[in-house]
Amino acid sequence: QMKIFNKISELRDYVKERRKESKSIALVPTMGYLHQGHLTLMKKAKEDTDIVIASIFVNPTQFGPTEDYEAYPRDLERDVNLAKEVGVDIMFAPETEEIYLKDELTTVTVDSLNERLCGASRPGHFDGVCTIVSKLFNILNPDQAYFGQKDAQQVLIIKKMVDDLNFDIEIVTVPIVREEDGLAMSSRNKYLNKEERKAALVLYSSLKLAKKLIASGERNANLIKEEMISLINQEDLAEIDYVKIVKQSNLEEINEIEGQILIALAVYIGQTRLIDNLMLEVE
Ligand code: PAJ
Repeated sequence: QMKIFNKISELRDYVKERRKESKSIALVPTMGYLHQGHLTLMKKAKEDTDIVIASIFVNPTQFGPTEDYEAYPRDLERDVNLAKEVGVDIMFAPETEEIYLKDELTTVTVDSLNERLCGASRPGHFDGVCTIVSKLFNILNPDQAYFGQKDAQQVLIIKKMVDDLNFDIEIVTVPIVREEDGLAMSSRNKYLNKEERKAALVLYSSLKLAKKLIASGERNANLIKEEMISLINQEDLAEIDYVKIVKQSNLEEINEIEGQILIALAVYIGQTRLIDNLMLEVE
């Protein structure tokens, strides 16, 4: 019995009624074209709370002018069926005009963190993410919101935003969900042809290599990075955007592997930009 809403006011009225029944409410924001990564977030949300709201909105403000906003895969009917199966109670699928008025002057920016890793190659991307997530938070006022570690930088930035702006919302994270061969699930995997799909495995292979080196005692971050880069460069279809080893707290690059670290990379496989990462705590 999943309900679908396109209008903010109708959704708000409905949620208000549920709140009167003291129901806890979880939000799972997505851009749709759902896969097991998204569905895992929704299942987890359903375990934890009474009412799960999944939003499906391909957010134009987080795409750069030369990025794939138009091409981004969309299939609402398919998404509706998948979401129903995992027990989502409400789907919010607004049109762009419902979310963005034509004369908006407000953007939510988490400084400094938004320039690192993916922010360096996608200027403005995280401002777009923070703005849409703030809007969704304000529209729904959920008790919890669910995000995947697949987008590790996004999680860190959203958590900082929630702290800085006093959102009364708990951010819950879910580990990266992978295909059987290790490729991190992504709506953008749809772009890959057969050869590229094989080549895309190099992202995860490079992370496994880094993990192995660290397990064997290697603590020189630059050396580990070089090993990763040379592995990726063996793959003809791969072109590195970045490979970085940073501190989780501030996303600044480190020389020595120690404490809570994030190994993150973005690699073009043909025309498709893929990301993956590994979070580690090292003694
Ligand atoms: P989207 O890429 O659709 O992802 C929606 C949520 O699913 C994010 O929290 C993302 O981290 C999570 N996710 C995607 N692939 C995953 C995987 N393989 N394993 C675990 N979680 C995964 O991220 C966005 O949309 C947007 O930036 C959004 C937050 C909705 C704002 O527009």
